[in-house]
Amino acid sequence: MSAATVGLTFNVTPAVKRAPADERERILANPGFGRVFSEHMAIASWDRARGWHDAIVRPYGPIAMDPGTSVLHYAQAVFEGLKAYRQKDGRIAVFRPEANANRFRRSARRLALPELPDSAFVEAIDLLVRLDADWVPTEPEHSLYLRPFMYASEVNLTVHPSDAVTFVLIASPSASYFPSGVKPVTVWLSEDFSRAAPGGTGDAKTGGNYAGSLLAQAQAAENGCDQVVWLDAIEHRWVEEMGGMNLFFVFGSGAKARLVTPELTGTLLPGVTRDSLLMLGKDLGYEVEEGRISVEQWQAGCADGSLTEAFACGTAAVITPVGAAKSARASWVIGDGKPGAVSMRLRSALVDIQRGAAPDVHRWMHAVPLA
Ligand code: COI
Repeated sequence: MSAATVGLTFNVTPAVKRAPADERERILANPGFGRVFSEHMAIASWDRARGWHDAIVRPYGPIAMDPGTSVLHYAQAVFEGLKAYRQKDGRIAVFRPEANANRFRRSARRLALPELPDSAFVEAIDLLVRLDADWVPTEPEHSLYLRPFMYASEVNLTVHPSDAVTFVLIASPSASYFPSGVKPVTVWLSEDFSRAAPGGTGDAKTGGNYAGSLLAQAQAAENGCDQVVWLDAIEHRWVEEMGGMNLFFVFGSGAKARLVTPELTGTLLPGVTRDSLLMLGKDLGYEVEEGRISVEQWQAGCADGSLTEAFACGTAAVITPVGAAKSARASWVIGDGKPGAVSMRLRSALVDIQRGAAPDVHRWMHAVPLA
């Protein structure tokens, strides 16, 4: 069996023996996040002479790696995260795969990696999800989290753009990212560390950005907080992101609420959920704005009641309310510290589209062609 895409053909070699249904059901009942994987993976190679080649969907399993493989030393790698959802009618659809394919190419360009054609990105997803359709959960808050990634696979210790690159797609049946679900998080405003600086890799989805965040995340935990909030690297004043997620602030309430999210300055990750919520916010009649918000404005807005809600958004956790903020100098509660009405309305509106329970007016859902 093979499937053609522009310039790249994935050969499909299914597992000879599949997991018994009862074992699969046991795993799907309590999958956690990103700790169990479906039965297949897609993999493709690239080199400077041949371009993309040797694409295959095959049983999931370890990748043997020479210790001199470039990515292990210099971290030339990018990844994506998106989800396949079981629809109300039993079919399977993936949320905005073209948007992730596009960002994957942009991230690759920034990391001097080759661009994978969008058609190959989507084809790999279609083939893998079709083969592992039984691994797409049916529980409302569960989904099949898709993790495409690409890394420098040349065996060479000189620092240079790798002459050999590997693309892999794996899939993980997953529940909520945060075990506590939509419980509001308390955030620590990091003034000692920066996630990204102008000209850096902040707007690319590359593992190094996450590796560099871990110490600040540990500091947040030491200060009794769940997550770290990143400020701009120059003035340590402008709010950028929370952990690996974008942030939104809600001013006012009810139909008159105004949503503000930090603008994409080049140091923020252009989140697909962020982009979707900007559109959805407008659809729901809110005023939406990409702008700058300082720590002082955040604190003052909470003190005078004009800033009513804050939430983080991303593929993995969808929308996570932010209940309180803390820095070395101050701490304050956002609204009443509970999930806000606007945040939860946006969350349900998005989740309903993702599950096929509301009209997909923006044509975000990509139906996976099942056999
Ligand atoms: C997301 O919010 O989807 C993320 O990017 C988090 C991921 C690194 C687990």
